[in-house]
Amino acid sequence: MKKIALALTAILGLAASGAQAQNYPTRPITMIVPFAAGGPTDVVARIVTDHMSRTLGQQIVIENVAGAGGTTGITRAAQSQPDGYTIMMGHMGTHGAAPALYPNLRYDPTKDFAPIGLAAGTPILIVARKDFPAKDLKGFLDHMKANGDKVNMAHAGVGSVSHSTGILFNSIIGAKPTMVAYRGTGPALNDLMANTVDYMTDQIVNVAPQIQGGNIKAYAIATPERSPALPDVPTTKEAGLGDYQVSAWNAVFAPKGTPPDVVAKLNDALVKALSDENTRKRLQDLGGVIPAPEERTPESLQKLVESEVARWTPVLQAAGAKAE
Ligand code: MLT
Repeated sequence: MKKIALALTAILGLAASGAQAQNYPTRPITMIVPFAAGGPTDVVARIVTDHMSRTLGQQIVIENVAGAGGTTGITRAAQSQPDGYTIMMGHMGTHGAAPALYPNLRYDPTKDFAPIGLAAGTPILIVARKDFPAKDLKGFLDHMKANGDKVNMAHAGVGSVSHSTGILFNSIIGAKPTMVAYRGTGPALNDLMANTVDYMTDQIVNVAPQIQGGNIKAYAIATPERSPALPDVPTTKEAGLGDYQVSAWNAVFAPKGTPPDVVAKLNDALVKALSDENTRKRLQDLGGVIPAPEERTPESLQKLVESEVARWTPVLQAAGAKAE
């Protein structure tokens, strides 16, 4: 009798979650962005969720939870109820570089998430304050050779994209600047424009408008081709530092255990957003790279995360990055 009751409860439970997934979503969804508002991850999140909300018929509310290079917000999201009502925007730092820099990281990027899909590729630029005493990358490198110890570099916390790509840049040019941490590159960019910090390596979607406006200097983009959004900015290869090639990415994740039907609905909404003309234009005007159709699946994101963790760990160790 007890066994029958238990089986019945299990069946009813499954039926209920099946029904829940079927009717999902029935209320607003929270997306945790693990950096300060206004920065690149926040910008990508707000652009894609704008259209996703329309497809899903429920608002996706952005909650900025910054700290520890993004790992604070991602930890909170990973530990939230896996019912589809809490999702997150992770990236190359939180789901690639962080394991190398946080030995006690409270999540495993390759195991503790239900990948939803890639949202945007975000090439990396070397940018500096407007009155930095160098007109091009060669001048910048010469200045760093002579005065590297007097220069500071902004970043969004250990393990963030701007930190890990900055560490890689500094190790290639042999520089040891003073590292200045922010809760995101949104606030770091404000200080760069205020000339209170010297340079950083940041995602194009954050800095493109200020470069186009002449408010900061851009020395090079770390991709094989120039960006259509910044045709005057040379590639690192053109600027004489071809060894520095790196591009970041931002992607949507849910906590592990989120029902497959819910994952499918969220992925469908993201794919529809990335096919929407206006959403594409908003990302591309900022230099964002739209993932190719085959790169928009949960499986493809899982593979990307696994390969990024495997790639960044030795790179950051070789660059002598200090773990937290
Ligand atoms: C941000 O949104 O502030 C960035 O993604 C931070 C970073 O990882 O550099």
